[in-house]
Amino acid sequence: MFDKEVYISRRNALRSKIKSGLVLILGNSEAPMNYPSNTYHFRQDSNFLYFFGLPHADFVGVLDVEADTDCLYGNDYSLDDIIWMGPQPTLKELAEQVGVQSTYSLRDLYITIQGAILKGRKIHFLPPYRGENVLLLESLLGIKSDRIKSYVSAELIRAVVSLREIKSPEEIEQIDHACDIGYEMHTTAMKMCRPGLMERDIAGAIEGVALSKGSGVSFHSIVSQNGETLHNHFHGNKLEAGRMLLMDAGAENAMNYCSDFTRTIPVSGRYTSLQKDVYNVLLSVFEKAMELIKPNVTYKSVHLDCAKVLSEGLISLGLMKGNAEDAVQNGAHALFMPHGLGHQLGLDVHDMEGLGEDFVGYDEEVERSTQFGLASLRMGRRLKKGHVITVEPGIYFIPALVEKWKKEKINVNFIDYDKVKEMYGFGGMRVEDDVVVTDTGKRILGKRRIPYTVEQIENIMAK
Ligand code: GLY
Ligand code: MN
Ligand code: MN
Repeated sequence: MFDKEVYISRRNALRSKIKSGLVLILGNSEAPMNYPSNTYHFRQDSNFLYFFGLPHADFVGVLDVEADTDCLYGNDYSLDDIIWMGPQPTLKELAEQVGVQSTYSLRDLYITIQGAILKGRKIHFLPPYRGENVLLLESLLGIKSDRIKSYVSAELIRAVVSLREIKSPEEIEQIDHACDIGYEMHTTAMKMCRPGLMERDIAGAIEGVALSKGSGVSFHSIVSQNGETLHNHFHGNKLEAGRMLLMDAGAENAMNYCSDFTRTIPVSGRYTSLQKDVYNVLLSVFEKAMELIKPNVTYKSVHLDCAKVLSEGLISLGLMKGNAEDAVQNGAHALFMPHGLGHQLGLDVHDMEGLGEDFVGYDEEVERSTQFGLASLRMGRRLKKGHVITVEPGIYFIPALVEKWKKEKINVNFIDYDKVKEMYGFGGMRVEDDVVVTDTGKRILGKRRIPYTVEQIENIMAK
């Protein structure tokens, strides 16, 4: 946990951004896996972590804007809990650790909320994403569960995003640490990868690294020879010489800050010349992003400039044709990269996504496009110092998508469909690093850069 002053000042800042009323910040409950007492690894809600810091289940934080107070609602552990869980701090002691003076039982929460409702006070809450919290809100507020979404507070969402999106130096230090664990994960994979192993041999080893150095993975690891399937969580294929292994994996450190890295490596340890050509196009796209990222540029414009470099590279390989600028305008490059350049990263791997992607990645100035590909860009807004974002261009050959476009004659002026068809079976490539926007530009996070060039990757795999 950070020093209690960090949480006190975050809550003060949040109260100062809300006009009036009560702010509810719901923590998470334990989530059963296959029967009630066999639960998933507990993950606290990130907003609760940000404002109240405590990684314990079944707490609710309440900020009273008019009274300028913060309260923590929860129940003390019973003797029965302590028999099974070991000695536990009291609610009061836990609250003290994060600078909260007033604590109440969960039953008191109903009295507080009912009192506020009777007085006609506004009750702000964030979009719930777990069933237990939907039901808690239903019983606290008397709003039917299927209507809860219409009552979330946009004022509170905007206030939370404005605070969480600017990472403080102590947060950057934590994300750097999560990136250092990510480095260990990816280099472990590079060193052990060879034909004959199963994808799960590698997935298991790198997830073990994440567990041994922090809280485990920040999302399900993608460790797949079928890298063209964007979020492929199947690990059951045998590694074959000549193919590539796409690994998109990151760690959550003990403070719950995340990393998110992708590398695409040759199973045999050496890229074929075609793989090298495609990979070098991908790196030129990445480098373009690095050149452009700095405060005040919109990430949407960086995405589009990168799409142009991608199109130029694919034209040079004969897979696309025509003018790169026109191709991007028409969204032709999205056949090969149907996703966005990146997203924010922090306590969530897709930071704050639960609050609504458009609140996090868009605003009055930058609107989300509806064009295929560009519509999937999660972060489009103007970059600010303290933003932490991923940069993750990719090049994929997705037969089902190619066949659909070809049949519907989509972007025929920009795509050489015969050439693209020859790439079926090639798979997909992505490279992803995490960067913080600084005063003048950006810094790639983590003490050491995961091997990135053809030469660096072939070298580490040879060892
Ligand atoms: N790890 C998922 C992503 O890169 O967005
Ligand atoms: Mn990723
Ligand atoms: Mn990512």
